[in-house]
Amino acid sequence: MKRRNIQLDKQGRLRHFLTVEGLSRALLVDILDTAESFAGVTSQSVKKVPLLRGRTVVNLFFEASTRTRTTFELAAKRLSADVLNIHISASATSKGETLLDTLANLEAMQCDMFVVRHDKSGAAHFIASHVAPHISVINAGDGSHAHPTQAMLDMFTIRRHKGDFYPLSVAIVGDIMHSRVARSQIHALTTLGVNEVRVIGPKTLIPRYINTLGVHVFHSLREGIRGVDVVIMLRLQHERMSGALLPSEQEYYHCYGLTEEKLSVAKPDAVVMHPGPINRGVEIDSTVADGPRSVILQQVTHGIAVRMAVMSMALGGQRGASGG
Ligand code: CP
Repeated sequence: MKRRNIQLDKQGRLRHFLTVEGLSRALLVDILDTAESFAGVTSQSVKKVPLLRGRTVVNLFFEASTRTRTTFELAAKRLSADVLNIHISASATSKGETLLDTLANLEAMQCDMFVVRHDKSGAAHFIASHVAPHISVINAGDGSHAHPTQAMLDMFTIRRHKGDFYPLSVAIVGDIMHSRVARSQIHALTTLGVNEVRVIGPKTLIPRYINTLGVHVFHSLREGIRGVDVVIMLRLQHERMSGALLPSEQEYYHCYGLTEEKLSVAKPDAVVMHPGPINRGVEIDSTVADGPRSVILQQVTHGIAVRMAVMSMALGGQRGASGG
């Protein structure tokens, strides 16, 4: 018997959003279309819709974040939800309370959604399998496993600039090994049907299993980004590295740092993306990060609409700014 995807309810609607892997193309397109309707709301002078009025969203960030935490908070507020930001270092977990006991207490306060970031892969899935039936869990990044809302805001940004996914060649450059963003992007891009996904990096930062995900591997940046439509740069994730995987940051920049000169082999209208935080002079030169082909800050803006879409869909199947 086929095992039911824990992320979906019996009607096949989104209940939790833990990973892009295993979700249908139709559902991903639904998230993008719903986000498109919210993008208009975020540019109005009154940036609120009443879809989640009376609902309570809890941000539970066990790991540092700037973009994800704040855009989840803004997204929830723009949907008129109440938002609790739990400061983990100042919470009772620092007095020995278990994670599940903390969650049980939040459930007792009639919260509706947990947005979870954790340094352990599988943490959001673990929480989703223990919460009460009325609670939705959104994965805001777990270890090196998945960062599904980041991937969807990246897909939204690509669709805004390029339209159809089918003809596109997309290059993902850098520390693929430790990147939850890269894994989620690869699943999203292949599900949405892009022509080609390339991953580029030194052998020490490309995991062996990557070939099973239907991507093409390159170890030369120039060869890898030649003729592509989209270049996605990634940060070196030192916090997840064990052992010396690189000779030095200078050597890495020399080989894999994106400069205007290296970017010249991509398509003339190629866009440059980065999930952030960026490390200037390590994976990307400032002339590219701040240049005309960079859409890095647009990604951040789009994160609000995409997170509004995911939250509203998970909490009651609401569709779009009109709720229709
Ligand atoms: N892209 C991203 O996850 O950034 P933060 O770590 O700042 O949330």
